[in-house]
Amino acid sequence: MFVAAHEWTSAREPAARAALPSNLAQAPQPDRTRQLYGRLAAGAVDQAARADADAFLRLALSRAQAEDCDLPESPQDLAAWMHHSAQLACAKYRAYLQERKAGAPRRYFQNRAHALYFLRAVAPTKLVDGAWLSGLLAHWQNPRFADLITTYAEELGEGRADKNHVVLYRKLLAAHGLGQAGDLPDDFYTQGALQLALGLNATDFLPEVIGFNLGYEQLPLHLLITAYELNELGIDPYYFTLHITVDNADNGHAQRAVQAVQDALPRLGGSAGFWRRVRNGSKLSNAGTGTTQVIAGFDLDCEVTAIFARKSASGLGAHSDYCRVAGRSVNDWLAQPDHIPGFLAALQQAGWIKRGAPAQESRFWKLLQGEKAEMFGVFNPYELQLIHDWLRGDASADGQAYDAPALLAGQRQATYRARARLSQQQAGSLNVFDASQDEVLDPDLQTLQAELAATGDRTQKMQLLIQAMSPWNHWTPAGLYATRQFLRMGA
Ligand SMILES: [Fe+2]
Repeated sequence: MFVAAHEWTSAREPAARAALPSNLAQAPQPDRTRQLYGRLAAGAVDQAARADADAFLRLALSRAQAEDCDLPESPQDLAAWMHHSAQLACAKYRAYLQERKAGAPRRYFQNRAHALYFLRAVAPTKLVDGAWLSGLLAHWQNPRFADLITTYAEELGEGRADKNHVVLYRKLLAAHGLGQAGDLPDDFYTQGALQLALGLNATDFLPEVIGFNLGYEQLPLHLLITAYELNELGIDPYYFTLHITVDNADNGHAQRAVQAVQDALPRLGGSAGFWRRVRNGSKLSNAGTGTTQVIAGFDLDCEVTAIFARKSASGLGAHSDYCRVAGRSVNDWLAQPDHIPGFLAALQQAGWIKRGAPAQESRFWKLLQGEKAEMFGVFNPYELQLIHDWLRGDASADGQAYDAPALLAGQRQATYRARARLSQQQAGSLNVFDASQDEVLDPDLQTLQAELAATGDRTQKMQLLIQAMSPWNHWTPAGLYATRQFLRMGA
């Protein structure tokens, strides 16, 4: 059975469907997107979550209709469009490198704290990387989706922990003590929620999934600059450089995304309606707060004030009444979060904080770091980096890590790659990939292996594997195992 062309433009048109549920059509509720993201990312996908994801997508798509589209008018022009976009990004990147060579400062990150802020802010999107394609796994037998399924499998590292994009991002966050932030502005969850919602509703939104993939998998300039500046600040850029190589226009995800459109375009009864929906779906790849907006939104003063405001609840009552600043007890200062800016100013006036000087010159910093630091452990590594860079001011542009030996005047942080080369030489060439990962101790892996062994039915086996390859599970040992088995079974 095939879908008649008119169905792509009328009954199946998302905007023409039933009216939005009243709770989503009304004024925005605080944290609504974050809550939806949290449910979908945790795999809490009951009927209500599916309905909310569906409504969320429809709302985003109806808003997208009013926006300009980057794609060409005709799908025949996609290959030329893709090559032109990639060439443009590369030319702009070359100009950026020339600027830097001529002495221009970093374009994106003022200092290390700024870069860590960015990694944390985009985490909701990066931790569900590839999710928009997950709904196509169930249709692996359709050869027209082969390129999309290959792309999804590559997002999952083909079941290798050292290549799985989500595992890599989780490791990057952990390496900098960033954890998984649950307190970001609501719009920072929009892109991730859309990706999860598309994956969950692939059957109803097939053209939009294909269009989204087309928009998202093109090589953007910001990816190139981000990777360059992270490396410069001594932060592992691998997650980003990996995307530069996999999104390439010759045989990477960008090229596959174009091929996927050509493969899936309806051949019977016309494709205009389908293509129109592909175009609209591609616009969702820019929805939510984008990379450059996140970076431009960084305000170090605000971030430091927010840290102290967050700590004030636990710090209140933890200080003796003898601890006084500007005639007030510290407990009194901490009693109300809106007194924090005044508290920080009072700490400066009293000489506890010395801005624009090495952190070690502030008595307050010595309470946080050092042999006899009385407040050791109160602030996490990310918060310490923010405070450290805030104390140092302009000098923090050298990228010094808060716990690293002080750099000499004018000296900059060694790049990540230079440090990695050095540690590799010192350690010998170690292959970090553990080939015996099928034997990792994990309860879900044991369950999955037992369930697979209990059935001889290939369809049932594939269903078990596909379930374990969901966006909320594929990065676990069971998910990685399932991905390897899925590929071995010839999918
Ligand atoms: Fe990815």
